[in-house]
Amino acid sequence: MRFELTGEQDQIREMVRSLARKEFAPKAAEIDEKSRYPEENLKRLAELGLLGMLIPESHGGSDAGAVAYAIALAEVAGGCASTGVGMAVANMAGEAIYRFGSEEQKRRFLPLLVSGTEAGAFALTEPSAGSDAFGISTVAVPDGDTYVLKGSKSFITNGSRAGVAIVMAVTQKEPKKRISAFLVESETRGISHGKPENKMGLRGSNTVSLSFDDCRVPKRNLLGEEGEGFRIAMKTLDGGRVGIASQSIGIARAAIEAAISYARERRQFGNPIADFQAIQWMIADSATELDAAWLLTLRAAYRKDTGNPFTREASVAKVFASEAGYRACHRAVQIFGGYGYMREYPVERHLRDIKVTSIYEGTSEIQRTVIARDLLGQGHR
Ligand code: CAA
Repeated sequence: MRFELTGEQDQIREMVRSLARKEFAPKAAEIDEKSRYPEENLKRLAELGLLGMLIPESHGGSDAGAVAYAIALAEVAGGCASTGVGMAVANMAGEAIYRFGSEEQKRRFLPLLVSGTEAGAFALTEPSAGSDAFGISTVAVPDGDTYVLKGSKSFITNGSRAGVAIVMAVTQKEPKKRISAFLVESETRGISHGKPENKMGLRGSNTVSLSFDDCRVPKRNLLGEEGEGFRIAMKTLDGGRVGIASQSIGIARAAIEAAISYARERRQFGNPIADFQAIQWMIADSATELDAAWLLTLRAAYRKDTGNPFTREASVAKVFASEAGYRACHRAVQIFGGYGYMREYPVERHLRDIKVTSIYEGTSEIQRTVIARDLLGQGHR
């Protein structure tokens, strides 16, 4: 066993760290304040091959692998968390099309996603179906050479920016409910989106509802086989969850770094507060938990890269990293004291940004369900 990155992974980390710190971090507060979509950041990521890290070069990707992707995403999220989620969804949608799409779909959609010409989206959640993803009610009824989609989706990242969305819809109700996945292009008639959600954090990311009103999608846009959509969604989320673990770690690392430099400068009772054990222990606890979170995340990514099952490992990484990361951000605000509560310092933004990591792509409660079912022999593998 080797606890070392490869030369290429190391290079990616250095490159992305420098980009995130020099170009993304200085704008992150403004992006948050104005709820501005960080388009220029996503273009930079595309130029560097960071939107197609899980796609082979034959299809325009950089084929860097899941470990390198985890490293890069953590760095980006540490600079600007809203940019991080844009990167995560682009890579997730692209990978799903690569893994489950026809050759024609790959040729049509992947170059657009990888080059950042179009954003991608993943539309599973509905107003009445969040954790119970199988409970969706959007339907797709075959009609000639199309499927007619009817229903609505909620909280869709990139929903009004995406050129193509992977949309899950019910194609059979009886005798057994079956869900299929569709590649729905933004200009399709009958698709509309709501206004951007006014969120607690990740305020630069685009989150909207989507409505499908007799929206005709050509049959050639069915992703995978009819009825295979739920499995596609779950497999896609397995990988996505490793990404969310990385995102949590990136945000929390930025919060700890800010807290450490503040603790060195801030003086109380005649000494820098870094000299007080109360502060030292908060820093030590955060660093210890984040190390553990990072190792769990790398393990899940490594299993993915090496073709091993990783559903449970992805859930373990996500639940631990998002919760440990939240605690680290919370402590960082505490170390900053009253200043931590003010918008002029970054730690309150980190705390707001990280909260959603224990909610989206499956809540912490759902991750625990996935872990327990696997251990009890009730999981899917
Ligand atoms: N890989 C492959 N197949 C899987 C699977 C996996 N990880 N998990 C389940 N399946 C298969 C099962 O084998 C089963 O197949 P069969 O019908 O052939 O037997 C089928 O899927 C149904 O599985 P379950 O019986 O386990 O389904 P369930 O209804 O009990 O739900 C769940 C399982 C884990 C709770 C699932 O509903 C879930 O993950 N919920 C959370 C939803 C979620 O993560 N939403 C995130 C939205 S996307 C998002 O947040 C993106 C963003 O903003 C950026």
